[in-house]
Amino acid sequence: MPNSKRSELEYLELFFGKSLTGKTARMLHEVRRQPRLVVVDPKCSQLVSLAGFDHVWPEYVPGKRGGWTGEQNPVNYFRGRTGKFRVVIHVREHLPEQLNSLCLLLRAVRNVTLAVDELGLFIPSGAAAALPSSILSAMISGSHEGLIFCGTAQIPSLVHFIARSNASRIRWFRTTEINSLSAAKSYMPRAFADSLPSLPDYVCIETSDAHAAFRDESMVGKIHLISRNNNARALPAVQTEKTDS
Ligand SMILES: Nc1ncnc2c1ncn2[C@@H]1O[C@H](COP(=O)(O)OP(=O)(O)O)[C@@H](O)[C@H]1O
Ligand SMILES: [Mg+2]
Repeated sequence: MPNSKRSELEYLELFFGKSLTGKTARMLHEVRRQPRLVVVDPKCSQLVSLAGFDHVWPEYVPGKRGGWTGEQNPVNYFRGRTGKFRVVIHVREHLPEQLNSLCLLLRAVRNVTLAVDELGLFIPSGAAAALPSSILSAMISGSHEGLIFCGTAQIPSLVHFIARSNASRIRWFRTTEINSLSAAKSYMPRAFADSLPSLPDYVCIETSDAHAAFRDESMVGKIHLISRNNNARALPAVQTEKTDS
């Protein structure tokens, strides 16, 4: 039943699993119909030339008096913006600070879907106090501002427990990592947790508040949004030039 009747996006969705199991592609697939969509890209490789999106490369100055600077400031991108948009924000450093600033900014933008790739790079795991305040509020009460929050991560234990415990849906792709497997056991029946190390690519176990866990093979071979062989860390200056190397 859940395979045939695709449900709406929940307000906080996570995608866990090993590298190359299909997390990022699946996340992009799930958010594809969102009219106002912000993708945050810390790897600056496979999403650099994602078609159909605007691309913003902010510069960030750390520290008390710091913040975004220069032309590619996300504040400029969102200023006065109404209607539909799709943008990838490529962030290279100061990741927690930049995601926190973005969450603050998006509260004012409202009605937006925020899809963060490799979320574990942005949000410190550990004590509740370590989660930057605007990220925290986007995750636990963002739905009041019309914010939908999605994120991928290779290892659930590296994603802050507040994010995990507030997730309304998690898609678990293949993993052999011991902490991930033990985390999974509190979300799904034993047999599903035991299947995680041998799940084929692009297959996941979906867990959610709304229904029993199930194995989802429905998207195998069906997502072609991003290319496999693009590992080069492209620089902003060359992003518009196609260089074959
Ligand atoms: N459902 C799918 N069907 C076909 N190809 C897929 C599917 N999901 C992902 N891929 C391809 O597999 C590769 C790895 O996927 P990706 O989403 O980047 O994995 P991850 O984010 O887990 O590292 C990409 O080239 C992607 O296009
Ligand atoms: Mg990925």
